[in-house]
Amino acid sequence: MKILGIDTSCDETAAAIVEDGREVISNVVASQIKAHQEYGGVVPELASRKHIEAINYIVNKALKEANVSFSDIDAIAVTNRPGLIGALLVGVAAAKSLAFCHNLPLLGINHIEGHIYANYMVYDTLTFPHICLTVSGGHTLLVEVQEGWKYKVLGTTQDDAAGEVYDKVSKYLGLGFPGGKIIDDLAQKGNPTAIDFPRPMLRSGDYQFSFSGIKTSVRYFVQKAERAEKIANGEITIEDIAASFQAAVVEVLVAKTVHAAKTTNARTITLTGGVAANSHLRSSLTSAAKDIDAEVYYPPINLCTDNGAMIAGIAYEKYQQGLRDELSLNAAANGSIVDV
Ligand code: KG4
Ligand code: ZN
Repeated sequence: MKILGIDTSCDETAAAIVEDGREVISNVVASQIKAHQEYGGVVPELASRKHIEAINYIVNKALKEANVSFSDIDAIAVTNRPGLIGALLVGVAAAKSLAFCHNLPLLGINHIEGHIYANYMVYDTLTFPHICLTVSGGHTLLVEVQEGWKYKVLGTTQDDAAGEVYDKVSKYLGLGFPGGKIIDDLAQKGNPTAIDFPRPMLRSGDYQFSFSGIKTSVRYFVQKAERAEKIANGEITIEDIAASFQAAVVEVLVAKTVHAAKTTNARTITLTGGVAANSHLRSSLTSAAKDIDAEVYYPPINLCTDNGAMIAGIAYEKYQQGLRDELSLNAAANGSIVDV
């Protein structure tokens, strides 16, 4: 069964053709990074307009690269929640029009479920239940994934998402957007113990996260006049700040994820979302998981970041479970995965 998956939830216009949930035949992504770069973050209105410009071209490219036409497609899946409302509406309108014109079943998909499914597309040995940490520009979510793609949400962020603080800290340091990869690269040349940034909620005894305090600490640290001087004369380097900031974020993410695996007896941990590309997060989670005999999986980068393949993938499972949506399908800015 071939599904066309569409995602326009944030700043990537994405479409893919996937067979039977796992075989990615094409996976096309148009990034809007350049358009948002000068603003240091995603501008929602600009994102919607860029999606409108790109959507038809990207869907046709996905079909062309897969060497198929609409007569070969069995269903159309689209992210309809959560995300930037104007951006989501573009994908939903396109998917509904195509489903109507080609008389195909339509499935509205939760974006986070797509991220969670991404590892399963690559590793067919994944066992259930497993613990999944989704970390991206918009989300920080720890869930227990049960057989049949049912989820128990363990914890989420109380304020900023992990990727969001990477992007904001990068902005404070004048390093550019998006900040994740820039900080990750700089951190490899810095001293992670140079500055003792806070580890919010590390010992809260639950699975909730909070990152805005780390972000504010970095901001104050850089703003203090005498430190600004030390930074200017090279006593404290940008690399040290990046490494110390990253150490704080990753320590909290790893501690809570491993604790969740330990208490639920899950021996499999999956990592997904844009921040799952982070080198320190990958290595430190993998080594901490070893202590409890758990194994860590993460997908290749093109399935970590936003893409249409993960949407087509989880849609295949939902289709088997009987999901079909009407042409009245709407987009929603919010959408938790407990209601799926
Ligand atoms: O999943 P994604 O492409 O889009 C959202 O759904 O948000 O994630 C984008 C986020 C950005 O905040 C970006 O800075 C972050 O992922 N990111 C990273 C790395 N690569 C991308 N964060 C930390 N380290 C990285 N290597
Ligand atoms: Zn995402």
